[in-house]
Amino acid sequence: MKYMGHKGKMLPVLGDILLHYADGAGKIADPFCGSATVSWFLAENTDKEIVAGDIQSFAVARAKAVVERTESFDPDRMIESWFARATSLVGQIASHFPNNLRSIEPNLTDPKQIKQVVTQSRNFCRDVLPAVFDDLGGAWPISKAYGGYYYSPVQSLVFDALRQCLPSDTNKRKVALAALVEAVSRAAAAPGHTAQPFQPTASSAKYIIEAWTRNSWSLVKNAVEEISTRTALVKGKGSVGDFRKTIAHLNEGDLVFADPPYSGVHYSRFYHALETVTRGIEFEPEGRGRYPSIDKRPSSEFSKKTTAKQAAKQLLDACLTKRATLILTFPTVGASNGLGSNDFVEYGRTLFSDVHVEEVESDFSTLGGNKKHREARQACNESIICFVP
Ligand SMILES: C[S@@+](CC[C@H](N)C(=O)[O-])C[C@H]1O[C@@H](n2cnc3c(N)ncnc32)[C@H](O)[C@@H]1O
Repeated sequence: MKYMGHKGKMLPVLGDILLHYADGAGKIADPFCGSATVSWFLAENTDKEIVAGDIQSFAVARAKAVVERTESFDPDRMIESWFARATSLVGQIASHFPNNLRSIEPNLTDPKQIKQVVTQSRNFCRDVLPAVFDDLGGAWPISKAYGGYYYSPVQSLVFDALRQCLPSDTNKRKVALAALVEAVSRAAAAPGHTAQPFQPTASSAKYIIEAWTRNSWSLVKNAVEEISTRTALVKGKGSVGDFRKTIAHLNEGDLVFADPPYSGVHYSRFYHALETVTRGIEFEPEGRGRYPSIDKRPSSEFSKKTTAKQAAKQLLDACLTKRATLILTFPTVGASNGLGSNDFVEYGRTLFSDVHVEEVESDFSTLGGNKKHREARQACNESIICFVP
């Protein structure tokens, strides 16, 4: 999944370091699990209980789909019955219109008409669909907030219907929800994440057409097939909350992998669509990005310059209190929340008996907040810092 600060590319180096330190631990915490790549790696490759956390629910939903599941299953039957229920629900919506789904599907054959098509789609989702939803009941947050913006009206309906019809079996439901998060991320008609949708200009027409014609069902199916094959060697757990809550589950000698935010803008501004599909709750969209108001989005002390340094210290304090070894990744310099890896190293040296640093070449997204450099990705060095109590 596309995610700001995703550690997938670093796993060849980072993974070896984590496996080395995992040896002596009973549990391993990933308190800023994000896309869940590292939690999944640890669950699949160690016989330790993985404890994943994040302040955003979609991140934890992703983690739970693997870390809490030790048995694989045949995804075909699950996909078939899940999709059948959702197809019937979409059909009930479509039956209100003379040509069923064809009345809802935007005509995307002529890029010159993009403005008109997008406006019609937005008006349809805002003015027509809500009355149909009221008749049928249920929550339709993707269609109401994002239909005609990040997603075509049909894509939005499919995502909402799939959300309403999730499987009831606990394990299958976890995989289905994680797959839905992935599909919503992949389908978005937006230049980066979901901070702002493409606008219907002549130059962006091709991007909107390309995104709106992505098949929601296939995106979900592919993600289910991928996630269902992954299982944890030992059952772990995921829970939504602050890093302190995740670290509180540990015992002396356990291991923490910490990958806190480096962005001066809250993650929830970029990933609200993923949070919306996970929570399934309708809201009043705000601004060009159509996100929920700030008080309804998770916010992080790491993403405020005034509190980031204190949060960094508290993270190190929390690990030391548990006598846990901490492996932390952070851009060496230039993070837009004002921190650098040295802030962690200097404070860590006052607390831990051994602190050592490895630097790896990386690149990181500057989306949001870094006004000096507008390129989407910046070459940089990322530090992997090992703090041993
Ligand atoms: C750099 S990302 C983690 C990326 C992840 N390691 C990956 O590979 O995808 C940082 C994450 O920290 C989460 N976060 C921010 N503040 C937090 C806090 N105080 N406690 C727990 N999670 C937090 C954000 O929601 C975000 O998902």
